[in-house]
Parts: sequence; C-alpha cells; structure tokens
Amino acid sequence: MKDMFGNPVYAAIIDSALENAEFPSTPVKLYAPIQYILSLSGKRIRPQLVFLGADIFGYTNIDSLVPASKAIEYFHNFSLIHDDIMDRAPLRRGKPTIHHKWNDNVAILSGDGLLVKAYEELADCPTESVPTLLKVFNKLAIEVCEGQQIDMDFEERNDVTEEEYINMIRLKTSVLLGGALEIGAIIANASLENRQKIYDFGVNLGIAFQLQDDILDAFGNTESFGKQVGGDILVNKKTILHILLKKVLIFQDHSVFEAIINLAETNPEKVQAMLSLYEKYDILSAANILKEYYTNLAYQNLNSIDVEAKNKTSLFELADTLMNRSR
Ligand code: IPE
Ligand code: IPE
Ligand code: MG
Ligand code: MG
Ligand code: MG
Repeated sequence: MKDMFGNPVYAAIIDSALENAEFPSTPVKLYAPIQYILSLSGKRIRPQLVFLGADIFGYTNIDSLVPASKAIEYFHNFSLIHDDIMDRAPLRRGKPTIHHKWNDNVAILSGDGLLVKAYEELADCPTESVPTLLKVFNKLAIEVCEGQQIDMDFEERNDVTEEEYINMIRLKTSVLLGGALEIGAIIANASLENRQKIYDFGVNLGIAFQLQDDILDAFGNTESFGKQVGGDILVNKKTILHILLKKVLIFQDHSVFEAIINLAETNPEKVQAMLSLYEKYDILSAANILKEYYTNLAYQNLNSIDVEAKNKTSLFELADTLMNRSR
C-alpha cells in the first residue's frame, strides 16, 4: 500500500467522495480523461487541508466540508492537466499524462471541464459561506495562472533571482495550499485573524513543498515520484537547484553550465550532465537548508494560532511528512 498522507479518517472520506463522483459517459474524450486523472492515486493533500483548516478551529460538521475539499482537488487536477502540456511532461502519478495518452486538445478541454466541476462543488458548500469562498477561491485561482505564466516566462530567461523564483512558486503552488486551509477555516467560521494565520502557514508550507518537488524532480526516483525524473532539467526550468547552482559556479564551470543548457530537450545526457554539476557543488544541501527555512516559518505561523496545542497535531504531522516525502 502507498504511504498515506494526513488524517486517516479524512483521507477515507476524501477517497470515497472522489471515487463516487459521477460523470456522464459521453463524450468519452471529455469525461474519460477526467475519470482517469481523478482515479490515479495522488497524495490528495489539498482536500486534507480543507478538513484540517476547519478541524483546528474545533469544527465537527465533517459532511459540510466535502464539496469544498472536492472543489480544491478538482482545481488542482485541472491545473496539473494543463501544466503537463506546458511542461511537455510524459508521466503523471506513474501513468501517461492525458495529452500523451490522448492529445493536447483532449487535455485542454477535459482540464476546462474539471475547472467547471470545481465551481459546481463550490456552489454546494454551506450557503452562508459561498460568497466568501468564491472570493477566496477566485483570488487563488487567478494567482495560480499568474504563477504558471511566470514559470513559463522563466524558461526563456537566464537571470532569474532567488527572490523572483520564490514569488513565482508562491503563486503557482503555495496559494492553493494556503487557500485550501483558509476555505476550511471560513466554513468553520474562524475569525479574520485566524484565517490570515492559517493561510500564512499554508503559504510557507507550500513554498517548502514546491522546493521538495524541485528536489525530487532531480534527485527522486521515477518509481516513487511518478513523474519523469530530470524533466525540469530537460526544459531548462528555473528550479531552486538551477538558481542556487548558478550563484556558486566558479568561473571555469560557466561554459560547462552554458553548454548543458544548450543541449536539446530530447537529449537524455543533459540530465546526467546537470546532475554532475549539482553534485559537485552539493546543491542538494543548499536547497534543503532553504526548504527547512520555509518549513520553520510555517511552524511559527502554526504556533502563533491561539487554539489548544492538540488541535494542531495533525497539521504539524502532515507538514513533517510532506517535507520528507519521496512522491
Ligand atoms: C504536484 O502536486 C504539483 C505541485 C505543486 C508540485 P502534488 O505533489 O500534490 O501532486 P499529487 O496530487 O500528489 O499527484
Ligand atoms: C506545478 O509546478 C504547479 C501547478 C500545477 C500549478 P510543477 O510543474 O513543478 O508541478 P509538477 O512537478 O509537474 O507536478
Ligand atoms: Mg509546471
Ligand atoms: Mg509540471
Ligand atoms: Mg515539479
């Protein structure tokens, strides 16, 4: 069995909600890809965050959290389908990506369909919280689009700073984790101050989460990671590893680095060549230090929330598991 993330009770509720979600059978090429991606076992941490963002404030009406948690997971999967086209990625969750199994048009439209389904779920959230949820959701959704465009722009640039990079991952990845927690907190009727604190926790956790994703993309193994290892290197993604390496290269290695960048995206030797440079300069350690920095910021945010310590245990545990994950 695959390692489980988060609270087992919530995980089971989420699994069953996603498994029992019904979609029409036709047009096949619209709905089969949606069923396909939802059935592949992702970690499903964002829907967990909806539950845990309510749980920490003592909320117990679990059923009323299900639509919001589905909305968040649908939105996440929509973003992955389109992200895989944009990143030219062949593999997702250990299986062919939708644009590889079908084609780009199928991936674009089934992604769009899933985004609409996310809004359908939002409309089913507790009525009094729907207007606020929509505002929070729309804000994070457009920020994810902004982050994704900046990520694409960075592929063409060679002067991306660490600060610009952190801002880009805050947008493409972190605001969704922060927003998922805040959505749980809204349904739980938490104060504005607490909503902000749990959001900030999620954003810092999300930054550390994306740093770990960048690390696994280079140093992970395809079997557990479920994605093509080295994919970021092939397309010259400005990952944290790339940025940290560029900062410390000695003069004599500049031309080596440039030559690797200029290798074709289809050349498998590109990955090994870049990994050798990462190893030479121990970039993995530097990236881990940064990851720990943001994890600690997240822990400080969580500590600052004024609820009983026992209410925070699940979030501390989840954060810890995520930072040490291999998938
Ligand atoms: C992948 O997210 C996209 C990133 C922001 C790194 P996950 O690593 O949560 O992917 P799944 O849902 O578990 O497959
Ligand atoms: C993805 O970042 C963020 C979104 C999908 C919005 P990545 O491109 O690093 O995610 P993976 O590695 O493909 O899952
Ligand atoms: Mg991407
Ligand atoms: Mg990607
Ligand atoms: Mg990645």
